[in-house]
Amino acid sequence: MLSTKTAENQTKAASQASKTPHNVDIKAQRMGFEFDEQVPRYWLENSPFLSHMMNALSVLFPQGEQFFVDSVRAYRDQIDDPKLKAEVRGFIGQEAMHSLEHMAMNQHVRDRGMPVDEMEKHLAVVLGATKKLPKRHQLAITSALEHMTAMMADMLLERDDIREGMHETMRPLWAWHAIEETEHKAVAYDVFQQVGGTYAERTFYLAFSTAALGVMTSYFTCRMMLKDAKRFSIKDTASGLWRLWGKNGTFSSLIPAWLGYFKPGYHPWDHDNSELVARFKAEIQTYIAPQYQSGNRKTLQ
Ligand SMILES: [Fe+2]
Ligand SMILES: [Fe+2]
Repeated sequence: MLSTKTAENQTKAASQASKTPHNVDIKAQRMGFEFDEQVPRYWLENSPFLSHMMNALSVLFPQGEQFFVDSVRAYRDQIDDPKLKAEVRGFIGQEAMHSLEHMAMNQHVRDRGMPVDEMEKHLAVVLGATKKLPKRHQLAITSALEHMTAMMADMLLERDDIREGMHETMRPLWAWHAIEETEHKAVAYDVFQQVGGTYAERTFYLAFSTAALGVMTSYFTCRMMLKDAKRFSIKDTASGLWRLWGKNGTFSSLIPAWLGYFKPGYHPWDHDNSELVARFKAEIQTYIAPQYQSGNRKTLQ
């Protein structure tokens, strides 16, 4: 017992590669969320614009997260640090679960008549082109997109008004995803640093990834709004845009955190929000479907 503890402490002390706090455990958990007719068509603040935009983000996740997994997995064998190695395993498992849960949500969006198949095809073309970049550049893209996901996750957990705007049938999925994005927010970044990623690559690809994410999300949102043109309202769209980009808006308020990535020596855990994980984790456990409560090994990739 004593020797196991000593070995554990040595591992912790020796980890130069990972700065993830020791109270954060990166572990995959299948949830088994289901989406049925109880989900309102406009589940976010009763707004067609905002609901379509979040649906658009959800359509991006399964393939996007597979890209993240592949880009980190490509360097898995080069990681010697045992703590970071374990975190990479956790990261891969968590992103695989996110893909599965968002596929369920996307099926629901598809069933509501949205052109999800077409959007997925377009996304596959974009990601196919991205996969032609050098491996380390792909990892820089993942690190940048993980930075943006972590910013949004932090805001979702931090701001009650954002979670309260979501219908109760959707809130658990997004809160669970936000918790796990917070837990593994530094994994891709730490791997990128370990394999010699440079400041120029990191910052260039933040700008590149932000533009790409902005274009894809806007395009998908427009596609869904066109499909749902009967419900289009200038008032709803204008107030949705204000909610995103106006005073205290969900995106405008993230600009300082976004800029933080340009700071030389930046690390995702410079902003230690591990208490948010602790605060929401217990509550989210109550949403695990019965078949996944005793573990989910079979579903891990
Ligand atoms: Fe994710
Ligand atoms: Fe992630």
